[in-house]
Amino acid sequence: MTAGLVTVRPAGGPGEIAAALELRRAVFVEEQGVEIAEDLDGRDDEALHLVAVDDDQTVIGTCRLLADGQRIKLGRMAVAPGARRRGIAAALLGAADAHAVALGGRRIVLAAQTYATGLYERAGYAPRGDVFLDAGIEHRWMEKRVA
Ligand SMILES: CC(C)(COP(=O)(O)OP(=O)(O)OC[C@H]1O[C@@H](n2cnc3c(N)ncnc32)[C@H](O)[C@@H]1OP(=O)(O)O)[C@@H](O)C(=O)NCCC(=O)NCCS
Repeated sequence: MTAGLVTVRPAGGPGEIAAALELRRAVFVEEQGVEIAEDLDGRDDEALHLVAVDDDQTVIGTCRLLADGQRIKLGRMAVAPGARRRGIAAALLGAADAHAVALGGRRIVLAAQTYATGLYERAGYAPRGDVFLDAGIEHRWMEKRVA
């Protein structure tokens, strides 16, 4: 899937996964003040990492999918500050559906930061339950059926 000159696909190997983790560190730890230990929760080895790369193959967006039976958890969505509001997160969400199905999933769940719920609603997610705090940031569970 592409958005302009941007391509979305699974991370191509350890180097791209490392680049995705570095982007997460810059966005969540440096920009949003989340503790590094909260970002690196020990589940990255079992995750499918999706990346958005520009025409230089630089990783400018990422998210990850974790399978729990037919429930796929999408998380760690981050886009480089200079690349935002160009539809890259929307393209990652669009690609995630087919990958979730390929992992055996029937629905994707995610905890959206409340400021960004419109992004997920436009991708077909519906809110579930009340707003809660995670890492000091307001979130809301959202869910989408994919199969
Ligand atoms: C949230 C984030 C991933 C969106 O990435 P993006 O590539 O800019 O998103 P898209 O261009 O696909 O979609 C943009 C939409 O996201 C939402 N959005 C993004 N930033 C927003 C902001 N600062 N305020 C309000 N809405 C915002 C809006 O719905 C926006 O649509 P609009 O441009 O028509 O208003 C990116 O801003 C980011 O990395 N933020 C910091 C990390 C973060 O908060 N991640 C978790 C989000 S649950």
